[in-house]
Amino acid sequence: MKELKILLVLIVIVGVTYWGIEPLAHSIMHKHIEEAIHKYHLPDYEFSDLGSTPPLDGDAAKGKEAFQMFCASCHGLKADGIPAPMDPKTAAASFGVVPPDLSNVTSFTSKKFLFHFIKDPAKASEFKKIAMPAMGLQDEQIVDIIAYLDSKAKKVHGAELFKEACGRCHSAKYQKIYAETPPDALKKYLGKVPPDLSIIMKAKGEHYLVAFINKPQALLPGTSMPRVGLNKEATEDLMHYLDRIADPHKEQRVKVGLIVLAYMLVMVGLTYAWKKKIWKNIH
Ligand code: HEC
Ligand code: HEC
Repeated sequence: MKELKILLVLIVIVGVTYWGIEPLAHSIMHKHIEEAIHKYHLPDYEFSDLGSTPPLDGDAAKGKEAFQMFCASCHGLKADGIPAPMDPKTAAASFGVVPPDLSNVTSFTSKKFLFHFIKDPAKASEFKKIAMPAMGLQDEQIVDIIAYLDSKAKKVHGAELFKEACGRCHSAKYQKIYAETPPDALKKYLGKVPPDLSIIMKAKGEHYLVAFINKPQALLPGTSMPRVGLNKEATEDLMHYLDRIADPHKEQRVKVGLIVLAYMLVMVGLTYAWKKKIWKNIH
C-alpha cells in the first residue's frame, strides 16, 4: 500500500508541475501581455472599439459598380474575373505593399471590421501610415460593396488563408511561401521587414498570437503591423495551420508519448504484482 501512496504523491507533483507552473511562469514573465489581454478583453471579435455598423444587407449589383469605381484601381477580384491592376513590383513601388486580391476577403475578415476599414482604414487598422486611403464613401455604398464581395467569396483554409490574409507582408519560408511584396519595399513602408512565420507558433504560443493578431497595438504599442480584422473561425483555422507548420511531427510525437506512458504503467503494475508474489512466499 505504501508504494501506491508514493506513486499517487508523485503523480500529483508531476501534474502540478506540468499544468500549474507553466501558466504561473507565463503570468509572471509576461505580465504586461496578460494585462493588455485582460484590459481589452482579447480576442475581441466584435471589434467593440470601432462602434456599431448599419445593417449589412446591401445590394450586390450596386456594390459591383461601386467596387469598379472606387476599388478596382488598386485591388483585383479574381473570383469575378477582375485582374490586379498592377503587377506586384509596380504596386509595391507605388504603395509599399501589394494591395491584396479581395476575392475571399469576407470569408475570413469580420464584416463589421471591414465596414469600418473601408470607411477609415487608418483608424480601423490602428496603423496611421496605412497605404489605403479613406475615400469618403457613404455608408450605403460600403454596405453594397460588402454584399458584392460576399457574393463572390468562398472559404479558404490553411496555406491559402495564410497567403490571402497575411501573404502580402509575411513569408513562411519552410513552406516555400514568400511574401508577395519585395522585402525592401516592406522595409520602406513598415520600417522593418515583417518576421517569417514558419515557426512563430513555437516562439510565441497560441495564447499570445490570437491576441496579437486581433489587436497588434495592444501588445506591441507603436507597431507597424496593421490590425487585419480576422474573424474567429479564420483565426482558429490559421492557428491550426501555424501550429502544424511549426511542428510537423507533433501529432506523431504525442501518439508515441502516450504509447510509452501506457507501456510504463503496465510495467509498474506487473512489477508490483511480481514483488507482492515474492514477498508473500517469504513471509
Ligand atoms: C489607392 C489604392 C487603394 C484603393 C483605391 C483601395 N485600396 Fe484597399 N488596400 C490598399 C492597400 C495598399 C492595402 C494594403 C494595406 C496594408 O496592408 O498595409 C489595402 C488593403 C485592403 C484590405 C485588406 C484589409 C485587411 O483586413 O487586411 C481591404 C479589405 C481593402 N483594401 C478593401 C478595399 C475596398 C473595398 C476598396 C474600395 C472601396 C479599396 N480597398 C480601395 C490600397 C487601396
Ligand atoms: C501590412 C503588412 C502586414 C500584414 C498584412 C500582416 N502583418 Fe504581421 N507583422 C507585420 C509587421 C511590420 C510586423 C513586425 C511588428 C513589430 O515588430 O513591430 C509583424 C509582426 C507579426 C508577428 C510577430 C509579433 C511579435 O510579437 O513578434 C506575428 C505573429 C504576425 N505579424 C502575424 C501576422 C498574421 C497571422 C497576419 C495575417 C493574419 C499578419 N501578421 C498580417 C506586418 C504585417
